[in-house]
Amino acid sequence: MVVYYSYLGITKAVAEFIQEKVDGDIFEIEPVDQYPSSYSAVLELANKELASGHKPTLRKRLENIDNYGVIFLGSPVWCGTIAPAVTSFLSTHDLSGKTIIPFCTHGGGGESNTFRDIRILTPGSTVFSGGSFMGNPKREISTWLEIQLKQKS
Ligand SMILES: Cc1cc2nc3c(=O)[nH]c(=O)nc-3n(C[C@H](O)[C@H](O)[C@H](O)COP(=O)(O)O)c2cc1C
Repeated sequence: MVVYYSYLGITKAVAEFIQEKVDGDIFEIEPVDQYPSSYSAVLELANKELASGHKPTLRKRLENIDNYGVIFLGSPVWCGTIAPAVTSFLSTHDLSGKTIIPFCTHGGGGESNTFRDIRILTPGSTVFSGGSFMGNPKREISTWLEIQLKQKS
């Protein structure tokens, strides 16, 4: 199962690429309230939400989560961490006992605290080393994916 949040479509493209490669299912994390389309407005709101720990309400749940033992979890890096919608997902779904393979896309600042913060929110899960990508570099993603799949089996 590939679970992701994407604001501009880059993490979505990476998630779809991973889904194709692993032949799994895919689930998009969607907040009920859309984020503003202007970069300065979304940045301001993201900073506010991260500072206050706000968890946006999500449009839908992943109902059949018990069917999946391995979850790829993708987020864009927002202000050095996961987007608040991903925190909402993790706080409303029980991933204990599962393996999480995290990935993120960023604009040049790297993963920052993204994977650390996923680990903090999922103490009962096994969290693999994350894949951090700028854009959607297919060859780099494939190499990372092969290593993760070997580690899993
Ligand atoms: C609110 C906001 C905060 C961001 N913060 C960071 C950051 O801290 N570091 C970074 O490298 N990129 C940052 N970016 C850039 C995104 O991580 C990058 O463009 C990402 O690939 C977008 O993924 P998406 O198209 O799936 O939304 C930020 C973008 C937004 C909208």
